[in-house]
Amino acid sequence: MNEKNVLFTIFGGTGDLAQRKLYPSLFRLYKKGNLSEHFAVIGTARRPWSDEHYREVVKGTIETLNPSAEEAERFASHFYYQSHDVNDSSHYQTLKELSDRLDEKYHLNGNRMYYLAMAPQFFGTIVSHLKSQKIITETGFNRLIIEKPFGSDFHSAFELNEKIRQAFPEDDIFRIDHYLGKEMIQNISAIRFANNIFESQWNNRYIDNIQITFGESLGVEDRGGYYDHSGALKDMVQNHILQVLALLAMEPPVAFSEKEIRSEKIKALKAIRIYEKKEVLENFVRGQYAAGQLDDQTFKGYREEDNVDPQSTTETFVAGKFTIDNFRWSGVPFYVRTGKRLTEKGTRINIVFKQVPVNVFKTSIDEPCNDPTLPPNVLTIYIQPTEGFSFTLNGKKVGQGFATDPIKLEYRNSAEMVENSPEAYEKLMLDALNGDSTNFSHWEEVAQSWHIVDVIRQVWDQVQPDFPNYKAGSMGPEAAFELLEKDGFEWIWQP
Ligand code: BG6
Repeated sequence: MNEKNVLFTIFGGTGDLAQRKLYPSLFRLYKKGNLSEHFAVIGTARRPWSDEHYREVVKGTIETLNPSAEEAERFASHFYYQSHDVNDSSHYQTLKELSDRLDEKYHLNGNRMYYLAMAPQFFGTIVSHLKSQKIITETGFNRLIIEKPFGSDFHSAFELNEKIRQAFPEDDIFRIDHYLGKEMIQNISAIRFANNIFESQWNNRYIDNIQITFGESLGVEDRGGYYDHSGALKDMVQNHILQVLALLAMEPPVAFSEKEIRSEKIKALKAIRIYEKKEVLENFVRGQYAAGQLDDQTFKGYREEDNVDPQSTTETFVAGKFTIDNFRWSGVPFYVRTGKRLTEKGTRINIVFKQVPVNVFKTSIDEPCNDPTLPPNVLTIYIQPTEGFSFTLNGKKVGQGFATDPIKLEYRNSAEMVENSPEAYEKLMLDALNGDSTNFSHWEEVAQSWHIVDVIRQVWDQVQPDFPNYKAGSMGPEAAFELLEKDGFEWIWQP
């Protein structure tokens, strides 16, 4: 097995992300042998936990993965806790001593991964201390995994990047976007570049519009404090949605390598039009949920959520139209929408193909049809909760005459397969251990995404929204539907 010798230092080791995603992912890697005898994890946070307590917490986070008691014990024995104030230099000295001790004990060869899973305002301080306090080793690899948000606009992202680059070269910075670790997002490239039937049609001659929906049924849960300063535009569009859009829109890379894919994604992002104020108002709409009901359950409105300003003007929903100004995509709208407290959790991409040039069936003598159009061919990529594809075609209706009927070809991964497929974080952590940053966001991608989103934010900040404007349990505000209607389209949402 390809065992990695490595010391993980997790800043934010007591946090929600560490407990929900990171520890279970590390355990899965442990079960697969990617981590074995030669690894250690230091969890840091302000709370004064002991190693024993930390290990109990870690064991609790992997319970659902059904380890044997002995296995859980052995895994957790690699975890160490250090109470840490990120602004206090002396704490980094203790961290260095502990790191060096564990390096020796587990034969880690100076290989280190630093995972920043805490409030972004501390990213810069932590990274400068890692360098100044010589925690970064001279031998082995030193890689930084950094959670979003990477800045809160282009300017702050730029400053943060400058700071980080003083300690880590770009190749050792892994800006995580967990959507890039999802099985079906990775499948976009396979669909496009392994199937001539699609790639040959993947342009403005054959595609009418592309729709990306990242819907969530959950509200802000216990993240009101963070979310109320972020909103859906920065929380989902600046990162996940634009990354997926880049994968859909990029030119075929000459090889499926990190460097080539990255360069194509950057070009695609650069071709997205940065809107003028008027265009923002025409092409983007926002929403905030009010109290509502779904399946006998009642939900409170966003403004009633914990740690949210009762007068908040933060958007919990965004829908918009991106325009890509290049040869391939000119004239094809890319519609996107994302929101909290929608009807269901559903992450999908719909590629809507153009109509046939003439619908010969409309003139059928036996069964005259008044509708001059046929339903469009739609390729749907289901990302979650189920994974798979479907493709709708028009076939002949069984029987006399020549009416047509839509037929759906469908492939969904079985529940078992979805269950067993590696979690996004597991894949991304392994990629980072292997030094492969294909599925991470490069600085130029982050920078361009901020340029695109910053203007939308600025325009919105000048106009008082009329919130709340959609009911919890619905599919968002009316304006999101009108956005497509005025172009003669509609959101496609098939089960
Ligand atoms: C995170 C956002 O990046 O993605 C959350 O901060 C959102 O607000 C989450 O809920 C959605 O991720 P997933 O994997 O559940 O679709």
